[in-house]
Amino acid sequence: MNNIERKDLIYKGKAKDIFSCEDENLVIQYFKDDTTANNAQKHSVILGKGEINNVISEKLMTSLQNIGIPTHFIKRLNLREQLVKKVEIIPVEFVIRNIAAGSISKKFGLPVGKEFKKPIVEYYFKNDDLGDPMMSENHLIEFGYTSEEELELITNYSLQINKYLKDLFLKIGIKLVDFKLEFGRLNSQEKNEIVLADEISPDNCRLWNEQDNASLDKDLFRQSKGDIKEAYIEVANRLGVLTQKVSSKLSENKLSH
Ligand code: TMP
Repeated sequence: MNNIERKDLIYKGKAKDIFSCEDENLVIQYFKDDTTANNAQKHSVILGKGEINNVISEKLMTSLQNIGIPTHFIKRLNLREQLVKKVEIIPVEFVIRNIAAGSISKKFGLPVGKEFKKPIVEYYFKNDDLGDPMMSENHLIEFGYTSEEELELITNYSLQINKYLKDLFLKIGIKLVDFKLEFGRLNSQEKNEIVLADEISPDNCRLWNEQDNASLDKDLFRQSKGDIKEAYIEVANRLGVLTQKVSSKLSENKLSH
C-alpha cells in the first residue's frame, strides 16, 4: 500500500486536491501551498505550507482516532499526500469557539480575547457563492444535511475534539481560540457512518501563543501581520512533528526561492 499512486483529480480545493487511487473506497488528499482568505479574494503561495499542514494534520487526526473519534485518516503517504477514506462531505463547516475572535467578535461586538464559559458551536453552509452563511440547527435538519441524531453525534464529537485539542495545545503553550471541522459520510453501502474529514491545521484553527497571545495561524495571512510559515513551523515543532525530512525539504525551498 506504500506505493499507492494518484490517479484522477476528483476535487480541486483551495488548499488541497483530492485524487482517486486504485482502491475505490479510498482517495489521496494532496496538500498544496496555496493560501486563501476572504472567500479566496486574497491568495498566495507559501512554499512548504502544504508539507507542514500535512504532518500537523496527521498528528492531530491520529491522536483523535486514539481517543475514539472516527476519522477518514488512514496514513500519510509522503510529504504532500495522505491516504484517506472516501467520504461524501456534509456541506457544513462546524466551528467551535473557546475565546472570542474573528467573525464572532465582529458580528456581536465582543472584545477579542473574551473567554467563553462554555465552548460555542456554530454551523456555516459551505457555499462560496453565498458567502458561507451561518446556519441554525433547524436549517441543517430541514435542508436534509443531517438527521437530528446525526447532528447530536457530530456536536458531541466536536465538543470532545475541542476538549482534547485544547488540552493538547495548552501543554505546548498554545491557546486553542477556535477551529473549523468538516465531517463526511463513508461511501459504504451497509452503513452511513459519519467520520471527521478534511484536515486540522493552522489553516483552520486560531492558535495563540500562551505567553503573549501572538497568532500562530492563518490570521497572520488574513491580516498581513507576520511570517505565516515561521508560525506554522513553530506549531509543528512544538507538536514534535517537524521531522528531519520535513525540515530539510523546507530548507531546500528556502534556498531555491
Ligand atoms: P471566523 O472567526 O472567521 O468565523 O473563523 C472561525 C474559525 O474557523 C477560524 O479558526 C478559522 C476557521 N475557518 C475556516 O477554517 N474556514 C473558513 O472558511 C472560515 C470562515 C473559518
